[in-house]
Amino acid sequence: MNTRRKVILRELGLTPLWRLRQNAAALDSPPETTDAAITRQHASEQPGKQNSEIGQMDWTQLASTVAGCTACALRQTCTQTVFGVGDQNADWLYIGEGPGAREDALGEPFVGQAGKLLDNMLAAIQLKRGQNVYITNIVKCRPPNNRNPSDDEARQCAPYLTRQIELIRPKLIVALGKVAAQNLLNSNDSIANLRGKIHDYSGIPLIVTYHPAYLLRALPEKAKAWKDLCMARNFMESQS
Ligand code: URA
Repeated sequence: MNTRRKVILRELGLTPLWRLRQNAAALDSPPETTDAAITRQHASEQPGKQNSEIGQMDWTQLASTVAGCTACALRQTCTQTVFGVGDQNADWLYIGEGPGAREDALGEPFVGQAGKLLDNMLAAIQLKRGQNVYITNIVKCRPPNNRNPSDDEARQCAPYLTRQIELIRPKLIVALGKVAAQNLLNSNDSIANLRGKIHDYSGIPLIVTYHPAYLLRALPEKAKAWKDLCMARNFMESQS
C-alpha cells in the first residue's frame, strides 16, 4: 500500500486493514450459538395489488418500478432512488439501512466513508463489491438528515427488497446494523442479542453485524464485527 493511501485510510480510521488469518476457523471461536436462534419471519408486505405485481417482476421491471416509486414521502426529499449494486447471482447479500448523502448523489449504496469500511470488511474475508456480492438497503430513498427510516417507510419499501432477495437467492444475508436486522428479522432485539447467531430469513441463513457507520464511531467494536465476519466466512465454507 502506498504512503498516500495509508495516510488517507488512517485519517478515516480504517487502518489497520483487516486480514483473514491462514486458519481463521481454528483461531476464531465458534459462533456463540447456532442452534436455538432460528427465527422465522417474513418481510412486511406493501398493501394492495402492487405487492403481487412486484413479486412477479424481473430485474429491469423492478429497477424501473423502484425508480418511479412514490409510495412514501422519502421520494419527495431524495435526489434519486438507490436500488442496489453487484452480482445479481451473488451468494452474499449485504443489506444496510438506507442511502446517505453520497449514495443519494451517486445512486449507489455504500459509497461514502461507511462504504469504504464496508469494502475493507469485504476484503478482509476475500470478497469484493460486485463479485459474488450484492449490496442494497432496507429503503431505497435517502431519509432526510440520515435519520432512521420509519416503520412505515420500511414497510412500503419491503416488497422491493423481498423481490431482490427472491431474484438473487443468496446463500447468506448479512444484515448491517440495527435497522436492517430488526426489519429483516421482524424483531425489536438489540444488535448485541442478534449477533453471533445464524438466523433464518424465509429459508435463507442470515447473520447480523454492526453497521459500518457505527464502527467508524466505535472503533473498539471492530473486533466484534471481525468475529461476525469470520463466523459468516466459516459458515459459507461449511456449506460448500
Ligand atoms: N448507510 C447505509 O445503511 N446504506 C448506505 O447505502 C450508505 C450508508
